[in-house]
Amino acid sequence: MKTIDDLGDLRGKRVLVRSDLNVPLDGTTITDDGRVRASVPTIQRLVDAGARVLVTAHLGRPKGEPDPAYSLAPVAERLGELLGAPVQLASDTVGPDAQRIAGALEDGQVAVLENVRFNAGETSKDDAERGAFADELAALADVFVSDGFGVVHRKQASVYDVAERLPAAVGGLVQAEVEVLKRLTETPERPYVVVLGGSKVSDKLGVIDNLIDKADSLLIGGGMVFTFLAAQGHGVGSSLLEQDQLDVARRYVELAAEKGVDLVLPTDVVVAPEFKDGAPATVVAAEAIPSDQMGLDIGPESAQAFADVVRAARTVFWNGPMGVFEFADFAGGTRAVAEALTQVTSSGGLSVVGGGDSAAAVRQLGFDDDAFGHISTGGGASLEYLEGKTLPGLAVLEES
Ligand code: 3PG
Repeated sequence: MKTIDDLGDLRGKRVLVRSDLNVPLDGTTITDDGRVRASVPTIQRLVDAGARVLVTAHLGRPKGEPDPAYSLAPVAERLGELLGAPVQLASDTVGPDAQRIAGALEDGQVAVLENVRFNAGETSKDDAERGAFADELAALADVFVSDGFGVVHRKQASVYDVAERLPAAVGGLVQAEVEVLKRLTETPERPYVVVLGGSKVSDKLGVIDNLIDKADSLLIGGGMVFTFLAAQGHGVGSSLLEQDQLDVARRYVELAAEKGVDLVLPTDVVVAPEFKDGAPATVVAAEAIPSDQMGLDIGPESAQAFADVVRAARTVFWNGPMGVFEFADFAGGTRAVAEALTQVTSSGGLSVVGGGDSAAAVRQLGFDDDAFGHISTGGGASLEYLEGKTLPGLAVLEES
C-alpha cells in the first residue's frame, strides 16, 4: 500500500482526499465533531506540503440527488475552524462549481466538494455507472488519498473506483486505524477482553464468530443480552428480543464453553415499564425480569463484574453500549465499562472503542478521547475488519 510519502512532491498538485465527515447533526449543529477532528491531520499534512486539497465526503444517506438537509456546509465550516484557514464548499460534487473551485485552488488551500452521495453514481451497484462518476471525480485531481476509514467497507465510487483511476495512497487516519485493528487480530497482548453491546445479536454474528476463539473473555451487554437470556429459558418481559436468533445465541454459549472462552452475561438488569427518559427504574435479577417490564441497562452488580474483567485486561475491544446511555438512569453500565477501559489505558494496556454508538457514548458521558488507546472512526468498518472480511477500500489500495 502506498503512503503519502510515496506520492512524491505534492506542491501545486491537486489532491483528492476521501474523508469520512459523516457526523451527527441536530439541524445544522454538529453534535459530535470527532470525525472532522480525526480528518484534520492528513488534510493539514497535505496543506503543509503545498498541495491543492479537494476533500470529498458523504453525509447521511441522501437518495442520489441533491438534498439540502444533507449539505456538508456545517462540516466545511467546522473543518475551516479546525484548520484555522478558510475552506470553500463547492455547491456540487463534480459539476461546474466543483470544476471552477478545483481550477482556482492555490497551493496549500482546501475546498470541500458537496455531498458525494448527491450523485447516484457514488453508491450504484452497476460498475459502469459507478465508474463513470469516478471518472468525473478523478478528472478534478492529480492524485488520490484514501483517508475515510469509516467507509472503507463500502465499494463506492469515491472510495473504490477513484483509487483505480488516479495514483492512490493511504492516508494517516486509515493507516492508524488498520494498525490498531491488526494488533487486535494478530498480536493481542493477553488477557484479551471483548465487550459487545448494542441492540441486535444479528449485527454482531460475524464478529462473535471470528473473535470467539481469539478473545479470553467475551462480555455481552446491551439489548442483545435479552436474546441470550431468552435462549437460556428465562422470561425477558417486553425487552428487545430477536426470536429468530435464539438458536444462534444458544450455540454461542456452547461454543464458548467448548473453546474455553469466558462468555459473561449480566446477572442483574435495570428495568422500566417503558422506553422513556425518566421512566421508573428498578434493578432485578437477570433471570427474573417481570413480564410488564423491559431491560434498559445491565445492573450495578453486572457493571461491577464487567468492569473487573475489563480492568484485568491488557487488550480490550469494546463495541456497543451496555444500555440506553442517552437516558441518565440507564447509562450506568456503559459508564462503568468506559471507566474500566480508561484504567486499562492508564496501566499501559491497549483499549479500543469501536466507532458508532460506543464512540458517541464515551463523548456524551464526558470522557476525554485521550483516556482511550484508540477510538475508531468507523463502526461498521472496524467490525467488518474484525470479522475478517475483505474491505474494498483497502483491497483496492493494496493493488494500486
Ligand atoms: C458510518 O457512519 O458508519 C460511515 O460514515 C458509513 O456510512 P454508511 O453506513 O451510510 O455507508
